[in-house]
Amino acid sequence: MSAPEAELVRRFGSPLYVYDEGELRARCRALRNAFAPELADFFYAMKANSNPHLLGIVREEGLGIDAVSLGEVRMARHVGFAPTQISFNGNNVDDAEMSAVRAEGVHVIVDSLAQLARYGRLFPETSVGVRLNPDIGAGHHDHVITGGPESKFGIDVGLARSILEVAAAHRLRIHGLQHHIGSGILDVAKLSLAMEVLLEVAPLFPELDFVDFGGGFGIPYRPLQAPLDLETFGRVATERIERFRAAYSRPVRVRFEPGRFVVATSGSLLVTVTAVKRAKKHTFIGTDSGFHHLIRPMAYGSYHRIENLSNQGGALEVVSVAGNICESGDLFAKERLLPECHEGDVLAIRDAGAYGYSMSSTYNLRPRPAEVLLSSPDQSPTLIRRRETIEDLLAP
Ligand SMILES: Cc1ncc(COP(=O)(O)O)c(C=O)c1O
Repeated sequence: MSAPEAELVRRFGSPLYVYDEGELRARCRALRNAFAPELADFFYAMKANSNPHLLGIVREEGLGIDAVSLGEVRMARHVGFAPTQISFNGNNVDDAEMSAVRAEGVHVIVDSLAQLARYGRLFPETSVGVRLNPDIGAGHHDHVITGGPESKFGIDVGLARSILEVAAAHRLRIHGLQHHIGSGILDVAKLSLAMEVLLEVAPLFPELDFVDFGGGFGIPYRPLQAPLDLETFGRVATERIERFRAAYSRPVRVRFEPGRFVVATSGSLLVTVTAVKRAKKHTFIGTDSGFHHLIRPMAYGSYHRIENLSNQGGALEVVSVAGNICESGDLFAKERLLPECHEGDVLAIRDAGAYGYSMSSTYNLRPRPAEVLLSSPDQSPTLIRRRETIEDLLAP
């Protein structure tokens, strides 16, 4: 696997995002298998990775889309998702965006009383979902905790009556309740606790079609980290949801909005070593990429496994892997044990499929990498996004 991977760099250039179709499909199926089909629907949070070819695979696997902007809604429609397969989760959305999303026929979830009233003024006598803040947050970093007192998201779960009052003033039907407490969660108990809070308040809303427990399913980025026990979560959640459904007056469906879990493990960022610097305190392995292509280590201190594809069995050395951006924080890894690296070696930064390319930028006016898909089952490579050029960046 590793020699052909390094070969991809020779063929498509460096740096390069590479995705494994078989892995992507397996992750979609693992999610769907954890819940009975008549119970749960999955809406892939496309902010994690919005490459249209990958979205097409996700669609074939029977997932819908969780979109957070008009651009994402349009992209989902562009790759063939029906409006009913798209859920729009807006935060601080203006009238123009809300109206354009509605015009696409997509249903909306609002996340403040002000947005609920705004929605009601624009579209009285329609259905809308609301995002609750269950006063519980979780996640791999403070910046991705989206529930609890510090979070800007959702309507406090204690304000259920106010939600119903605002809805009544505009003759709105609250047809869905949603929460999303954070990202990168590996603890089944946290997910279950937040689910419990939402289900306890749900009976106050008599016209629900769905309850949506967001995304946040984590993956083990570190070698010895335990994965999320999806099977246990599926079992515990199904039992709780069945109890709720038996007591509720309408046939409610359940939704989840996973992003990272679906796409993270299928992607690697391949980079080439451009310099080895043995400085006083650290050995820096310089590469031709940086935080403009994968911002997670810099933004969240995230750990990504790194392999030296060109020297797999080489003598181990403690190094820091750096990028080519003019900032000291531009490090993919600090003080990491890696097989000795030389100029020209190809390194693979693993689990980079989620929040990698989708959070990339052209900072320092460096173009973005190309993206390649290894098709299943034969692993034949297809270019699924061309490399950006400096000419692209010069365009007005
Ligand atoms: C509303 C909502 N749903 C789903 C997700 C997906 O989260 P994850 O990629 O952790 O599954 C996010 C991520 O920010 C989100 O804001």
